[in-house]
Amino acid sequence: MNKELSFRSLPRIDLRGFTSPVQPLPRLSEELGLEVWVKRDDLGSVGLAGNKVRKLEMELARAREVGATHIVTEGSRHSNATRAAAAAAAAIGMKCTLVLCHDEPKEPVGNLLLDALFGADLRLVGDVSWVELARLTEDVVRELEAAGERVYRLPIGSATGRGATSFARAYIEADEQIRAQGAEFRTLVHASSAGSTHSGLVLGRALSGASTRVIGVVVAGEVYDDVPGNYLRLANEAAGLLAPGVQITADDLELTEDYLGEGYGKPAPGVMEAIDLMARLEGIVVDPVYTGKAVAAIIDMARKGSIEGPVLFWHTGGYHAIFDPHYTSVMWSAIPRLGSIQL
Ligand SMILES: Cc1ncc(COP(=O)(O)O)c(C=O)c1O
Repeated sequence: MNKELSFRSLPRIDLRGFTSPVQPLPRLSEELGLEVWVKRDDLGSVGLAGNKVRKLEMELARAREVGATHIVTEGSRHSNATRAAAAAAAAIGMKCTLVLCHDEPKEPVGNLLLDALFGADLRLVGDVSWVELARLTEDVVRELEAAGERVYRLPIGSATGRGATSFARAYIEADEQIRAQGAEFRTLVHASSAGSTHSGLVLGRALSGASTRVIGVVVAGEVYDDVPGNYLRLANEAAGLLAPGVQITADDLELTEDYLGEGYGKPAPGVMEAIDLMARLEGIVVDPVYTGKAVAAIIDMARKGSIEGPVLFWHTGGYHAIFDPHYTSVMWSAIPRLGSIQL
């Protein structure tokens, strides 16, 4: 790490219980002719893990510090972020209210089932825009405050500068883990939507003084009017909290929409092959909404020769989507070796 910089210590609650491993993917590497490793943030001890838990370790510590009693956040009823917030709140004995949009499916599946299991108060508001969802969430905050609750409000996707600091630290953690195994990564690839993962990783690279390429594979293009502007804001808010004096610029970000396909949660070329290869060659599950698109990017760039190895695939979790009946049947029919099985 750059010796002139020192981290400010920020309060954190340990919600993961262990350091997620960095491991090589030998069979996938052989298949692609490219050395690929994985950071297993899909593993952890609260709420079925994923990248949101890292951010919540910072945010819920702050919530406790300011005396909050109640977490309020919003998202789609498929959201990993809201599910993680519900689980984390349960784990530390805080109340949680989730304001959830999207109408389909009506069945209590996937993350919606988990939100309810983790004891969150669910406010289902139907098929509204993200702007309307945020407005409705503010109404809920006012209602709870009027009833005496001390509310800690998390924005959609838990996308905050404070949350992003966790990924700056995570970059350094992964860098040390891979070096301890005698390698170093030249490129890091991860799924990206609300942006605190990418912002934090880019800040971590700056703090390490490394020249690693960090590629955010955009899986939800419509999340902000100005996506790079918001990512930059998050990165610099995180820098302000963690290492004042460090400045992240637009040139530090690298986002690609080449693997977004038809949009958030919708099909994109190469995703089914990515799910198939990761499962069959490495016994690791990636999902059609987030991480499948990041792995599809690695496969495509490997075949085009446009990515330098060793590559670290940052597994951000989110495999619950594969148990949603919609995605289960899409995968069953689109992965040839499954579709040919007689049930
Ligand atoms: C599984 C998974 N991967 C990646 C992301 C993207 O993270 P970020 O919102 O920090 O861009 C999310 C966010 O919803 C996610 O659930």
